[in-house]
Amino acid sequence: MVSVKTEDEIKKISRASEIVAHILDELTATIRPGLNTGEIDTMAEEKLRKYHATSAFKGYRGYPASICVSINDEIVHGIPSPQRVIREGDIVSLDFGVKLNGFFGDAAVTVPVSPVSELAVKLMAVTEEALYRGIREAKVGNRLYDISSAIQSHAEGSGFSVVRDFVGHGIGRALHEDPQIPNFGQRGKGIKLERGMVFALEPMVNVGDYRVRLDPDGWTARTYDGALSAHFEHTVMVDYEHGVVLSGVN
Ligand code: MF3
Ligand code: CO
Repeated sequence: MVSVKTEDEIKKISRASEIVAHILDELTATIRPGLNTGEIDTMAEEKLRKYHATSAFKGYRGYPASICVSINDEIVHGIPSPQRVIREGDIVSLDFGVKLNGFFGDAAVTVPVSPVSELAVKLMAVTEEALYRGIREAKVGNRLYDISSAIQSHAEGSGFSVVRDFVGHGIGRALHEDPQIPNFGQRGKGIKLERGMVFALEPMVNVGDYRVRLDPDGWTARTYDGALSAHFEHTVMVDYEHGVVLSGVN
């Protein structure tokens, strides 16, 4: 069942989502060659304490860290580690979720460690634009897969592919609520959107094909062909004109 949130629930999801946005901004500013991803996890935990919030990810199905850090061909769910050092030319996806007063927010960004390849620049721009095209479709009068279709068309129209094994999701009192929101689909299909539905939209876009393989750690998902992947995510409320980003910095 897809729930329509009350104004009070939306306020609480917004507070959690704003903390996600602030922390992601602060973490983005620290990304540089030589930093290891374990240090990013430690910083995320320190910042959570400052906001009196907790990680939505730590302990989720046994996930061992507070944030996911996925580099280059890693798509999602990279586990931070002191052994994993960021290098010049990398693209680094930070995926972070917060729980505050019983409500969740979730967002992701992909950060370039300059200088990066032109292909990487294009991939990141296309993935972020695909997210915003999806957000524009998150409006009353549309159907769910209008969002999916907008994301897919932009990514594939730019010569890239969308990951099929991971999807966007409803969010609120749980990190993952109904519906599942694939980053591919047919316009005009799916449930009718109502004002106050809240979705985490999260295109994962690959330079090569869309297939995924899982590392032996059971978490890190990377491209099957070893090509680059980017990930952008926002927590978004369905509204009349277009989706409203709740995980933005105000
Ligand atoms: N944003 C991702 C998602 O919604 C990351 C959560 S997976 C976790 O699936 F295990 F790390 F929590
Ligand atoms: Co998510």
